[in-house]
Amino acid sequence: ETTVTATLFPGDGIGPEIAVSVKEIFKAAQVPIEWEEHFVGKTVDPRTGSFLTWESMESVRRNGIGLKGPMATPIGKGHKSLNLTLRKELGLYANVRPCLSIPGYKTRYDNVDLVTIRENTEGEYSGLEHQVVKGVVESLKIITRQASLRVAEYAFHYAQTHGRKRVSAIHKANIMKKTDGLFLQCCREVAEKYPDILYEEVIIDNCCMMLVKNPSLFDVLCMPNLYGDIISDLCAGLIGGLGLTPSGNIGDNGLALMEAVHGTAPDIAGKNMANPTALLLSSVMMLQHLNMNDKADLIHKAILQTIAEGKYLTGDLGGKAGTTDYTKAVIDNLGSS
Ligand code: IPM
Ligand code: MN
Repeated sequence: ETTVTATLFPGDGIGPEIAVSVKEIFKAAQVPIEWEEHFVGKTVDPRTGSFLTWESMESVRRNGIGLKGPMATPIGKGHKSLNLTLRKELGLYANVRPCLSIPGYKTRYDNVDLVTIRENTEGEYSGLEHQVVKGVVESLKIITRQASLRVAEYAFHYAQTHGRKRVSAIHKANIMKKTDGLFLQCCREVAEKYPDILYEEVIIDNCCMMLVKNPSLFDVLCMPNLYGDIISDLCAGLIGGLGLTPSGNIGDNGLALMEAVHGTAPDIAGKNMANPTALLLSSVMMLQHLNMNDKADLIHKAILQTIAEGKYLTGDLGGKAGTTDYTKAVIDNLGSS
C-alpha cells in the first residue's frame, strides 16, 4: 500500500490532545498515512493576508486531504473566523455531516441515520453586513446559481453513491422568495437528473419539528449555508451532541478537509478530559474519502465498541476516563470484533 500524506491542523484548546488520539489510533491500526502538521492562528501571514499560513494552505492543496481540530478565532477587531476563511480559501463548497445514532449511548432517539449537506461558501455567511443609518443594519444573503447547483449536485451524487433514497431540500422560499427560490430551483433541476432518488422540499421550520418528532422521516438534507449550520446542530443533538458527530468539507477535484465541529473547550484543555470521538469519526470519514475502507471500518468499529462497552468513557458521556484511557481502549478494540 502506498503512503498518503495528509495535512493535520491539531487546532487550539483540546485540539492537540484529541489529535494525538487520532495519530495513536492510526499508528496502531497501521493506517498508511503520514501527517503534515500545521499550527495556524498565531500571526497574520502577509502572503495569505490571514492567520492561515501560506505553508498550511499549500499543504492542503498539495495533499488534497486534511483533518482539522477546533480552532479559536484570534481575538481582535475584524478578525474573521479561521474556520470560515479555510472553507473560502480552499473552495470547500459542500459541508457533509453524517448523523448516526451511537449504539450504547442512549438518547431519546434510536437508529437516527441522516446526513446534512450544507452549502458552505455563501448565503448569510458572505460577510456582507453594514450599517445603513444609525439604528439600521443590513446583511446581504447571497445565493448564486453556481453554488446552489454544485451543492445540489453533490447531495444527489452523495445519495446515489451512499445507498440513500431521498434528498430533501430545506428552505424558506415562502418568505425568501428570490434567494431560497433560486436555491430550490437549482435543486429541482438537479433532481431531474436523478430519477432514482426521491426528491422533496421541506420548509425549514416544519423540518425542525419533523426532525424532533421523528428523525427517520429524513435521509439526506440539502440546504443553504445558515440553515445547514443550524439544522446540523439540531441533528447532532438527536444523537448526543457535537462531541459525537463528524464533518467533512468538500471542494473541487476531491479536495477534502474533515473537521470536528465542536469548540476548543478551553476550560478542560490540557487536562486529559476531552472526548476525541468527533475528530476520530471525522478521521474515519477521511479514510472513507481516500477509499481506505478497511482501515475506516476497523477504526469505526473499535470506536463504537468502546462506547458501547461504556467502561472508558470521558466525562461528557458520563464516564470518568481520560482522553488517553479512552484512546487506549479504542486501540485495544482494534480488530477484536
Ligand atoms: C460550524 C461552526 C462554524 C460555522 C463556526 C465556528 C464559524 O458553527 O462549523 O458549524 O458557523 O459554520
Ligand atoms: Mn455550526
